[in-house]
Amino acid sequence: MEAGKDSKNLDSEEAGAAPDNAESKESEKPASKSGSEEAKDDVGDDEAEAGSSHKNLVDSLGHYLKDKLHIGDKAEKKKKVLPEKSLEAVVKYIEEKKITKIITMAGAGISTSAGIPDFRSPKTGLYNNLAKYDLPHPQAIFELDFFHKNPKPFFVLAKELFPGSFKPTVSHYFIRMLYDKDLLLRHYTQNIDTLERVSGVPGDKIVEAHGTFFTSHCLECELGYELDWMKEKIFADEIPKCISCGGVVKPDIVFFGENLPSRFFRCVEKDFDECELLIVMGTSLVVQPFASLVDRVGSKVPRLLINREKAGTANPVMRALGLAGGMDFSSDTNRDVAWLGDCDDGCEALAAAFGWADELKELVAKEHELIEKEEQESKTKVKGKI
Ligand code: OAD
Repeated sequence: MEAGKDSKNLDSEEAGAAPDNAESKESEKPASKSGSEEAKDDVGDDEAEAGSSHKNLVDSLGHYLKDKLHIGDKAEKKKKVLPEKSLEAVVKYIEEKKITKIITMAGAGISTSAGIPDFRSPKTGLYNNLAKYDLPHPQAIFELDFFHKNPKPFFVLAKELFPGSFKPTVSHYFIRMLYDKDLLLRHYTQNIDTLERVSGVPGDKIVEAHGTFFTSHCLECELGYELDWMKEKIFADEIPKCISCGGVVKPDIVFFGENLPSRFFRCVEKDFDECELLIVMGTSLVVQPFASLVDRVGSKVPRLLINREKAGTANPVMRALGLAGGMDFSSDTNRDVAWLGDCDDGCEALAAAFGWADELKELVAKEHELIEKEEQESKTKVKGKI
């Protein structure tokens, strides 16, 4: 599926995106003299005069073309959104324009430092480590058709990845800080680990695009179940069966072939027109319709990607033909900024540019301490029961 196509179903085909690692450095080259200026330095008066009338001719031709072909309009469109491609420029933009409506979009990369694997990283990604499940192909573990035939692999994996066993990362707490500072319009996540909630971002500020583990439903009669019930079944290595009809009960995470939650579409309609700055973190931006959200913000809204490699870039030929959206990190408008590296480091650098570095560190330390204390208390309670 191509970026920009609207779809309600989860779809993982590449979003018309080819990695754009060969970013042009043209805009970073020091300005060199134009050919005509260099030539003028070497010539005498007559030739200089001839050069000058030649210049007039070129100028008037330039004006003519500008009027007739609306080249000026194009130049206007090419106006720089940011003075340079840097975190500092993004922060300055937020401060100078008094931006308060930031949307963050995230994927598995914001949770890897918590110990949860992502999906597509070459060695460590989940899809490269599913051999033991004997699947027809890695993604089958999240496909509805396969689940109907054989739910076991999913539940074995669910036990390994069950929410509640991990602590939010610096990246999660950075998003929480955006909320605390009244800068967060909404956080859109593809993750089902619930770590955004654990970090203290309120539920109404989060859109869990690929669903959640918190609730479950019977695939036959749609009877709903709570997290604790599901947890008990998963940790007892049982396939959860409906108490009413005996059908298989599945956590409400979105499988390939299923619709995204209706709240996703409702919030997208409302939020993206209002968005003043987009921050995308830790995602390969290949799963639709989530990946295409980057095209839903206004055409002059800056977009910052914090990720190990560039993501979401449209094929340049497709872009030139106006057939694909996506990020354009090579444009000299500097609208799209790629900060390449680990999300936690990127968030720390961004916090430093805001002047929040110490505050972020303190928040992470305080919250982690609280979680550890709670874990300790619940272990003691369990021991007490025995
Ligand atoms: P992917 O595994 O496709 O992409 C994760 C991205 O994060 C990659 O670009 C990694 O290089 C990058 N990354 C990993 N760790 C990082 C770190 N610490 N710092 C910075 N970057 C890091 O995961 P998603 O894009 O989230 O759907 O995948 C999208 C969807 O595909 C998932 O929601 C899931 C999957 O199929 C379902 O299962 C329904």
